[in-house]
Amino acid sequence: MSPSRFSPDSSIPLYQQVADRITALIEKGTLSSGERLPSVRKLSRDWTVSITTVLEAYRLLENRGMIEVRPQSGHYVRPRIRTSPPEPNFNRSRIQPTAVSLGELSVMTLHDAQDAELLHFGAAVPHPNMLPSERLNRTLSAVARRSASRATSYEFPPGAKTYRVEVARRAVTAGCALTPDEIIATNGCTGSIWLSLYLLCKPGDAVAVETPTYYGLLRALEGLNLQAIEIPAHHRDGMSLDALEYALQEHRIKAVLVTTNFHNPTGSCMPEKNKERLVEMLADRDIPLIEDDVYGDITFEDERPKVCKAYDKKGMVILCSSFSKTLAPGYRVGYLAGGKYHHELVKLQITANLASPTLPQLAIAEFLANGGYEHHLRRIRRMMINQMAWLRQAVTRYFPEGTRMTNPQGGFALWVIMPEHVDCLQLYDRAIQHKISISPGFMFSPKRQYRNCIRLNAAFATEDTEDQVALLGSLAAQLAQREKTSV
Ligand SMILES: Cc1ncc(COP(=O)(O)O)c(C=O)c1O
Repeated sequence: MSPSRFSPDSSIPLYQQVADRITALIEKGTLSSGERLPSVRKLSRDWTVSITTVLEAYRLLENRGMIEVRPQSGHYVRPRIRTSPPEPNFNRSRIQPTAVSLGELSVMTLHDAQDAELLHFGAAVPHPNMLPSERLNRTLSAVARRSASRATSYEFPPGAKTYRVEVARRAVTAGCALTPDEIIATNGCTGSIWLSLYLLCKPGDAVAVETPTYYGLLRALEGLNLQAIEIPAHHRDGMSLDALEYALQEHRIKAVLVTTNFHNPTGSCMPEKNKERLVEMLADRDIPLIEDDVYGDITFEDERPKVCKAYDKKGMVILCSSFSKTLAPGYRVGYLAGGKYHHELVKLQITANLASPTLPQLAIAEFLANGGYEHHLRRIRRMMINQMAWLRQAVTRYFPEGTRMTNPQGGFALWVIMPEHVDCLQLYDRAIQHKISISPGFMFSPKRQYRNCIRLNAAFATEDTEDQVALLGSLAAQLAQREKTSV
């Protein structure tokens, strides 16, 4: 590769400039699939950058799924997966309030996640291997012994101070300067979202959401008798702000509910400039933003992305999250930072739950304070980078021709768009007979779009599951074939 200059004064770190240039060479085809990259030493010489810079750049490219390391051999360009989903369709007539009625299927897929006989490609739950359960449970026992009476007492909202201190500390990594007094402990991210929607909306009101979106958010709208306005979302950048702008002009929207980082099901991550624009756009109209950041810590890059809350000058963003995806979904420990709604949310949390369980808050606070969390995150990020890359390759290999998929840069969810006639419900039924659970696409839209899509949980996708991915692919191929012959 020929030498070329980099800009040392740019705000983009040098290793990222190197990685971006290699990405461009791969995209243009100068470096082709399966080709060996120059050795670290050679590239460092040719491009007059340090060895550390090249190593960092190669690591970033590995995280992006562009290259792979072959032991004792070097770095190679990964086979390209030319299967991105289409751009979202900004069809104005479809941007309308819709009543939400999801039915039983979303509850069934959650129950599937508890069936030990099934392979859990369905619900987006972490694999038990990813969680530091033993250490966390030991911490919990130690806290229970040490603070026996406190651990069994009420911890009235806003919740345990030690927990809120740790959450505020971590918020810095997401670009937020929050004090513990701005945070409320909740019963998971679901609890945070429920409180926010309950406070901000009354039955019949319309809330803007991405489409597709996580069915748990849709269930919350359904439970509160709220209408959803589906805003098209890009598989890489998230909610289309032009479409939202249009919706805001045409409809009375009470709140906007988005998963900005590593969206479920598409894995999209909203670019920083869009986050800033979204916050300003809504603040100008006095419309609150409910931000779900439950996957923000599971980035495939070196640093986690910021949240919209980082750009919130008027206190209009309610940041909702939890430790369900990284530490312990069963502890049900979540939080919210409610901005100007803080005091109302504290009162509502008292009304709805009186308090959240004390002991899990104290245990998570201690785990976060003792410094093992960053190390733990690095481990699960690496696992997810490898597993997502492996799953994408396996879907490419085994699913029928015409299948497309997203390229998540974090989180667990892979969104797979199969040929038009493959019915996700039929695939769900057949897969369950073979002890594989999946999430059918149509649960991710109140208008029941995405019938030919499924969401796969990459947290359970390892090389040991190759036979099951192959089986799923062949079931999808049979359905595609059957439809073709019956047309
Ligand atoms: C986007 C999103 N938000 C919230 C949740 C639920 O989080 P919690 O277990 O903290 O309630 C999930 C779980 O799948 C999710 O995908």
